[in-house]
Amino acid sequence: MGKIINKKNMFFPDKEFKKKALINNNSIYKKALKNPTKFWADIAKELYWFNKPKKTFVHKPPYFQWFTGGKINISYNCLDKNLEERRNKVALIWEPEPLEERERILTYYELSRQVNKFSNALKQLGVKKGDVVGIYMPMLPETIIAMLACARIGAVHAVVFSAFSSNALKIRLEGTKAKILITADGYYRRGKIVNLKDSADEGIKGTNVKKVVVVKRAGNQIKFKKGRDYYWNELTENQKDHCEAAKMNSEDTLFILFTSGSTGKPKGIIHTCGGYTVQAYATTKLIFDLKDDDIFWSTADLGWITGHTYSCYGPLLNGTTFVLYEGVPGYPEPNQWCKTIEKYGVTTFYTAPTAIRMFEKEMRTIKEKMSTLQLISSVGEPIDEEAWKWYFNQVGKGNCPILDTWWQTETGGILITSLPGIGPFKPTFTGIPFPGIRTDILNKEGKPVKANEKGNLVILPPFSPGMLRGVYKNPKKYQETYFGTYGNKIYFTSDVAYKDKNGLIRIVGRADDVIKVAGHRLSTGELENIIDSYKKVSECAVIGIPHEIKGEVPLAFVVLKSGKPGDEMKKEIVQQVEKGIGKIARPAEIYFVKELPKTRSGKIMRRILRKLFSKEDMGDLSTLANPESVEELKKIIQ
Ligand code: WTA
Repeated sequence: MGKIINKKNMFFPDKEFKKKALINNNSIYKKALKNPTKFWADIAKELYWFNKPKKTFVHKPPYFQWFTGGKINISYNCLDKNLEERRNKVALIWEPEPLEERERILTYYELSRQVNKFSNALKQLGVKKGDVVGIYMPMLPETIIAMLACARIGAVHAVVFSAFSSNALKIRLEGTKAKILITADGYYRRGKIVNLKDSADEGIKGTNVKKVVVVKRAGNQIKFKKGRDYYWNELTENQKDHCEAAKMNSEDTLFILFTSGSTGKPKGIIHTCGGYTVQAYATTKLIFDLKDDDIFWSTADLGWITGHTYSCYGPLLNGTTFVLYEGVPGYPEPNQWCKTIEKYGVTTFYTAPTAIRMFEKEMRTIKEKMSTLQLISSVGEPIDEEAWKWYFNQVGKGNCPILDTWWQTETGGILITSLPGIGPFKPTFTGIPFPGIRTDILNKEGKPVKANEKGNLVILPPFSPGMLRGVYKNPKKYQETYFGTYGNKIYFTSDVAYKDKNGLIRIVGRADDVIKVAGHRLSTGELENIIDSYKKVSECAVIGIPHEIKGEVPLAFVVLKSGKPGDEMKKEIVQQVEKGIGKIARPAEIYFVKELPKTRSGKIMRRILRKLFSKEDMGDLSTLANPESVEELKKIIQ
């Protein structure tokens, strides 16, 4: 086991770690940057293509394509390609939440068999290449099987996070016109059974969904509608265990994943078959330094992009054994996740700062040795120095590199991180761009900022193979959101960042109204829409403020149209949010105010609201139409 060397608060892998690492030489960066497209083209050759790509990169700003002319199937690469060499290797270890239940272990062969059977089942239900299939499922092997089966037959999956409410599901299903939904009866969460099927039934009302496939997981009572609903097990039982993988064009859509953006409505981010596969494969392999005997565990829910890329596709493309846990990592005991690491000998662990801060709060010192761990990593929000150090000392025991990986739903895979065999690992800094990725930090005028100066983080051509190809049915949104700030050739991430003198990047936070609540991407605009739509509300403003564990939490300022301010009304509004988005979006506090601070042209000044909480100077209030509103606010929040 290697030790990590500390040089003035910058950490490096020692000789032993370096020696074993897949990449341990800086020269990869230089080489890749000299010719990024060749770098990716070479990696693409490690995958199986039915037809080799003709062109690596085609740029038609703001659009771009990768590996055009190539034909590929991600399910073929995850399964069939691995059957030759590791047919009997364990692919997936599924750990249920109830302790008395046994884990489920699927080898590459067994997983492949089940995917093939379910692919045939989907075909029997009439699903064709290009059709969109909704997946509203918890952390189950069947969720992965469903995703792979869609990909196998060329259907486009649109996974919706299982903790989203029926209304959130409905909006996403309406957005894609999906005709079929795959869901489960229920699942375990903190010892309770969540009835998912009830939400699914509610969510499909008024949508195009005509068929629903139900996995029996928790055995809870459901309303089963004959002729519309099908049980997964009955449907797949008699299917053949071979289904030819569709030969997909590299630029065909692989999946759509909805994400919060700078307005109220979620955007359907489009990812494609060729580029996404190459990036998921390469980043999982090289960043997590995967070797054949590694056991990888990403705690990310399959309903988010990290779940797609690193709890499903990335490990499978690399023929890795990986763990999927049904529940929250700190349940039933705070150290449950440590036990899981020890039980399976996890070598590579990927989680979010929220979880790390929660572990730290609940455990302080960790008794478990977790001696198999070799690499630990973090994603989704900035990680503060205290949490970083705790993670390093208590979880990694000073022996594991910490990779702080930066990316987005839109980028499909990690774009900025240190590499484990090179380093440095510097607390609160995510690292440098992955080989072949060109980024910059620009000021408002589009000029690069100096070291330690904040600016907008951008990605420059040729971007990366796994980046989004569009916003579903909304080209204008694609152009405006990502290529509207610095022109058609520069992708704006909406993140603010700066570099230190060594070029290491630190992410400061978002420049738009996206907030990260316990790692979940939400937008304050989305919350405002939901609250505003409540009949007793006249208008509202939502802001995110820092929170010790969750990173950020939403606060709502509400002006009422009718009804009395007070606890009852707070409850009603919270219910409105739970119904509209889900429990994850619950405001931490609701303040009732007579008016919101506004400019003379009527724009709500959320900046002022934020400043009230950061105790910053309020600055010049003379541009406000109602400066007295600020006095009222000051009194209320004290
Ligand atoms: C933030 C998650 C700091 C960032 C994969 C980004 C991070 C947004 C990091 C995307 C990190 C992600 N350090 N901030 N290592 N990783 N972010 O789409 O603001 O859920 O734009 O994708 O999360 O969130 P998303």
